[in-house]
Amino acid sequence: MKIMLKSKQPSKRIFSGIQPTGNLHIGNYLGAIKNWIKLQEEDDCIYSIVDLHAMTVPNNLLDIKNSTLEVAAAVIASGIDPKKSILFNQSNVPQHTELAWIFNCIARIGWLNRMTQFKEKAGKKKDNATVGLFSYPVLMAADILLYKATHVPVGEDQKQHLELTRDIASSFNTTFNKTLDKDFFHLPEPIILGPAKRIMSLRDGKSKMSKSDTSDGSRINLMDNKDQIYQKIKRAKTDQHPIPDNINDLDDRPEALNLFNIYASFSNKSVKEILQQFSGKGFAQFKESLSDLIINDISPITKEMKHLMNNKDEIIKILIDGSNKAQEIANEVLIDIKKIIGINFKD
Ligand code: TYM
Repeated sequence: MKIMLKSKQPSKRIFSGIQPTGNLHIGNYLGAIKNWIKLQEEDDCIYSIVDLHAMTVPNNLLDIKNSTLEVAAAVIASGIDPKKSILFNQSNVPQHTELAWIFNCIARIGWLNRMTQFKEKAGKKKDNATVGLFSYPVLMAADILLYKATHVPVGEDQKQHLELTRDIASSFNTTFNKTLDKDFFHLPEPIILGPAKRIMSLRDGKSKMSKSDTSDGSRINLMDNKDQIYQKIKRAKTDQHPIPDNINDLDDRPEALNLFNIYASFSNKSVKEILQQFSGKGFAQFKESLSDLIINDISPITKEMKHLMNNKDEIIKILIDGSNKAQEIANEVLIDIKKIIGINFKD
């Protein structure tokens, strides 16, 4: 019997997510949110505050509502316009967890065992990590494929999770393409762009800038004030060499390279142009100029975030409206998936 499908494959659809775990920093802003804003001008975009992902670390549960509203405020204050993009919190659309279960029955333990982010986050106490943290990338695959997204703008740290999403989609396609005579899922492509794809810690140029780093000086948070930004950049680790005129001379200088990449992302200039401007000078002058650039960009966002956080009902309304729109799409796709598998007799 031929299966009648309801959902259409969009020619281009963007999906991305961000965890509500507080301490949103310029790595999240430059590596992801800034690209989201550009994309919403042209494309069909769906962005989610992924609260169910944040729950995989039990400590995050203590403040999840406030963190969700704060991250939504940050995304809106940065320029995501709920009239142009769908913005919603993941737990309001229950189809995410339902599809994640189906994908749990497709993904193999061996695939998940390879995930470097689980190894990093679980650390040495692997047995103490939640089952949710282990199967986290399966929920992420569900987030993306539930909307038949074609492109996923993320920082470089999410690349492996995107590969797993593609593996799950391919496996589903191979299992069911005889039933359908075609592939159900389009394989989504990551969009990993520019000098900000991996912003590093200000204290250690070999580790990623991260919300969970115990040193607050390792990152610039979107809620930092001017003084904090000046101080953190002033104390950012560099080295004893002067600023070179050639980008190749930054190869073994990860801390310096990181600061030039941050400068490049905020100024929309290339690292080459920035080196021409500062070569031969010491880091003090460069750092002052970098702080000014960051403050110029971040201060209006911080101000708007604070304003929105005083109007939490407004944020909640935006998230509920977004959830309703997201759910319409998600529901059609999930009904199709259940029909294809043969586990849905009602719809
Ligand atoms: P999360 O919340 O850790 O980070 C949100 C986005 O910020 C990017 N990012 C960075 N980019 C550059 N330099 C950094 N130091 C840096 N730190 C973080 C991340 O790559 C990400 O794009 N698993 C995801 C959330 C997620 C998701 C999804 C993303 C859940 N479902 C579906 C895309 C599609 C995460 O933990 O992001």
